[in-house]
Amino acid sequence: MLLSKKIIIKTPNEIEQMRLACKDAALVLDYITPFVQAGVSTEYLDDLMLRYTEDVLGDRSACLGYQTADCPPYPKATCISVNHQICHGIPDSKILKKGDILNIDVTVIKNGFHGDTSRMFMVGECSIAAKHLCKVTFEAMWKGICMVKPGAHFGDIGYSIQRFAEAQGCSIVREFCGHGVGRGFHEEPQVCHYGKMGSGAEILPGMIFTIEPMINAGKRNLKIMPNGWTAVTKDRSLSAQYEHSVLCTENGYEVLTVSPGCEPPPSWAAWKSPT
Ligand code: MF3
Ligand code: CO
Ligand code: CO
Repeated sequence: MLLSKKIIIKTPNEIEQMRLACKDAALVLDYITPFVQAGVSTEYLDDLMLRYTEDVLGDRSACLGYQTADCPPYPKATCISVNHQICHGIPDSKILKKGDILNIDVTVIKNGFHGDTSRMFMVGECSIAAKHLCKVTFEAMWKGICMVKPGAHFGDIGYSIQRFAEAQGCSIVREFCGHGVGRGFHEEPQVCHYGKMGSGAEILPGMIFTIEPMINAGKRNLKIMPNGWTAVTKDRSLSAQYEHSVLCTENGYEVLTVSPGCEPPPSWAAWKSPT
């Protein structure tokens, strides 16, 4: 028999704690936004975000020192993935320049709970292709979020993202997925950004998970850099990603990683489902 691993249903108190952690992660992105400019290094941005996380919010970075089976401990507080970097870009001395697009991915721990969110940033004026990729990726994330309600299946999220992004001529990275999030950074289940309607586990009220599609302008194939972490597109095409942490409610979803500086949903979506 195939045993499926347990997806944690959060209690009302745990949900309240998650609202706080997730808001803080979004606030880190709000804070860093005006500093994302041509001429600064990604390491500088990472330092600022670590200081803000610890000294202003009183939280910890979940990324700093994070270790999985096959990677060395992650050396920085955030992930900053520039242009053809798909994810897990390690902040370094590289200087941002006009026309770059970058994803900043922040995971904080507040009172033992993880908040995980990422956004795209553009440095000055960017190409039409870069802007299009970012827009498609943002909307693809929301196509996934809109599928979240009790009785839906995790495959519905993947299906909706894949159908939308591929119709726009983009490709979906398959090696990295969304994930349950809570006391654990990466909990069950894996939330794939491609798939079939009705496949996967049933989504139930109290489940909290991320939706974080990585979408390439070219082919979906990737390679991992010698640092053991950073994924880049094999064809060096641009890649984009957005990420929200989302709660399944009794009648739909609640996006938890919200803050004043958060980009509002597309016109066909909403922060919360109608009650
Ligand atoms: N924040 C990433 C995610 O969305 C994970 C980063 S792990 C790190 O799941 F160690 F690279 F920071
Ligand atoms: Co995540
Ligand atoms: Co993340």
